[in-house]
Amino acid sequence: MRHTRIIVTRYGGPDALTVVEEECPEPREGEVRVRVLAAGVGLPDLMMREGFHPETPPLPFTPGWDLVGVVDRLGPGVSGIEPDQTVAALPISGGYAEFVCLPQRELVPVPSELDAAEAVSLVLNYVTAYQMLHHSAKVSKGQRVLVHGAAGGVGSALLQLGRLDGLEMYGTCSSRGARTVFDLGGLPIDYRETDFVEEIHRLTGEGVDVVFDGIGGTHIWRSRKALRAGGRVVAYGLTASLFGGRLASGRPGRRNRSHGLAIFGLYIAGGWLLPGRKRVVPYSIQWLKRLKPTLFRQDLIALFDLLRQKKIKPIIARRFPLAEARRAHELLGKEGVTGKIVLTRSASSLESGTA
Ligand SMILES: NC(=O)c1ccc[n+]([C@@H]2O[C@H](COP(=O)([O-])OP(=O)(O)OC[C@H]3O[C@@H](n4cnc5c(N)ncnc54)[C@H](OP(=O)(O)O)[C@@H]3O)[C@@H](O)[C@H]2O)c1
Repeated sequence: MRHTRIIVTRYGGPDALTVVEEECPEPREGEVRVRVLAAGVGLPDLMMREGFHPETPPLPFTPGWDLVGVVDRLGPGVSGIEPDQTVAALPISGGYAEFVCLPQRELVPVPSELDAAEAVSLVLNYVTAYQMLHHSAKVSKGQRVLVHGAAGGVGSALLQLGRLDGLEMYGTCSSRGARTVFDLGGLPIDYRETDFVEEIHRLTGEGVDVVFDGIGGTHIWRSRKALRAGGRVVAYGLTASLFGGRLASGRPGRRNRSHGLAIFGLYIAGGWLLPGRKRVVPYSIQWLKRLKPTLFRQDLIALFDLLRQKKIKPIIARRFPLAEARRAHELLGKEGVTGKIVLTRSASSLESGTA
């Protein structure tokens, strides 16, 4: 049987994505072959395509951090899982394919009644948001938080989950995201027109308890200034190193994968050394999953339950068929979206939201 897979053949812009047709992979000892129903498209995929994400695999590789699919074939030695069962995984790469083989231990059961695109939105974005809220920041009811990029994939997840936790929320966004941020329970702050540090102090007086900063670089330092004494910045992304059209350019040259991480280290140390008891704590879903795989599984199952109960509702920005992965990358790299882009198996591109 043959299937379609997307590969990155060189580090660069969206045109580095190629569609290939090839024989379906066969599951090895302990592996399960999954028929992918939905694969998430996110900024980490674009950073890996460009070759500067720390997790970038060697070339050629198939992108795709997160996926939802159905069990198709069991490899030798696999038991306790049935064909046709719906499952989710965070393989970090490999999701942009019709079929993928994964170790059984990587698979998390998904309630079959859930929409695959909504379910896949939980795997990377909502687990990130959930773990930062509950494990990194340990938020409690009534606390004030500032969410950067609040209309984005992780940002909108932070707002939906923060509302369930009874938080007072502020969210930076551009003007097109303001309505979404407001509807999700955050007070929008237009980061292009307003100095967010001044605005937070004007609105709250002493500052916020927690800032969730996926922007990175020197932005982390400004986030620290928005904290009250004793507060913490949870730093988790490097969006600042991406925008300004550079992502779509396929810029040549050396890829420095450790630069952003070095800056993180500097700010974490600064948080401890400088007065004000304002800490900067890093968060990485892949490292927490490697260190505590059971926690990842538990948190994802808790999120599937919240989705089943309709307590959360992921925003699906666009659905593209798998073969149009390049268009999905162009859209995310050039214009950005509100919510999450999902690649599906369907032949037609369905739109269920605004891009
Ligand atoms: N550490 C982890 O485990 C982990 C997990 C998931 C994601 N991430 C990282 O988290 C970051 C966000 O990911 P995502 O999937 O949520 O991306 P996304 O959906 O593209 O959202 C990013 C948002 O940031 C906004 N933005 C850009 N520059 C901004 C600025 N200076 N101030 C405030 N907002 C700004 C964009 O809004 P406009 O387009 O309207 O400007 C966009 O809504 C990425 O760097 C990603 O790599 C890390």
